[in-house]
Amino acid sequence: MKQKIIVAIDGPSSSGKSTIAKLVAKHFNFTYIDSGSIYRAVTYLAIKNKLIKTGKIDVVSLIDLLNNCSISFSFNLNNQNVIKLNNLSIDKEIRTSEISNYVSLVAEINEIRKYVLKIQKDISYNKSVVMDGRDIGSVVFPNADFKFFLDASLDIRTSRRWNELKLIEKDLKFEEVKKDLLNRDEKDTSRKFSPLIKSKDSILIDSDELDITEVVDKIIDIIKKEITNK
Ligand code: CDP
Repeated sequence: MKQKIIVAIDGPSSSGKSTIAKLVAKHFNFTYIDSGSIYRAVTYLAIKNKLIKTGKIDVVSLIDLLNNCSISFSFNLNNQNVIKLNNLSIDKEIRTSEISNYVSLVAEINEIRKYVLKIQKDISYNKSVVMDGRDIGSVVFPNADFKFFLDASLDIRTSRRWNELKLIEKDLKFEEVKKDLLNRDEKDTSRKFSPLIKSKDSILIDSDELDITEVVDKIIDIIKKEITNK
């Protein structure tokens, strides 16, 4: 078996990427990396320092701030990443709907993407990883050993995300979540740098009719077949 395997999982918001990526990584004992959490951490920093005003980001100050702080990962017992800002976990803080509302605005800035790309490459150096995001198979790891593109209809994705967020934000409405997903999909697919696209060589999995275990089993089967033949 090859020493280092890269599995890229891309797709729109709430298509199940992170849940599935975690389980696939656990099965093979690979490291799971949630690339969206890095963009969320940068957004958290921008909001905390009031660098987003009336929909505009003070990019120069944000880059300056990033150069003077550290965004890093530690790994829990399941080999999953826990994101840290200046060595403090911000894993919970980055999942709010406020961060979700602004993250795509931050993620379309090329300087920010370059900053995040370096973290993605550094963290994957010398290990087998399952990384999920929007541009993993197209830009971050165009030569990934396996590329999957997960999709599901907007309503299914909205109910998944709403059920998750309702636990921490009780008053949140289904329609608000739907609007956020639509806005983000639109921004993520139409941006100039590293848009969300299905690369030609990725395997499309539509999870509307499949539950998590079925998707995970499908991906594990594909990987197993390939690596045992090598
Ligand atoms: O959890 P969800 O799928 O909604 O989003 P996420 O994976 O946490 O990513 C949050 C946002 O970061 C996305 O909507 C994108 O704007 C951006 N992102 C990106 O541009 N490229 C990536 N590789 C990962 C995330």
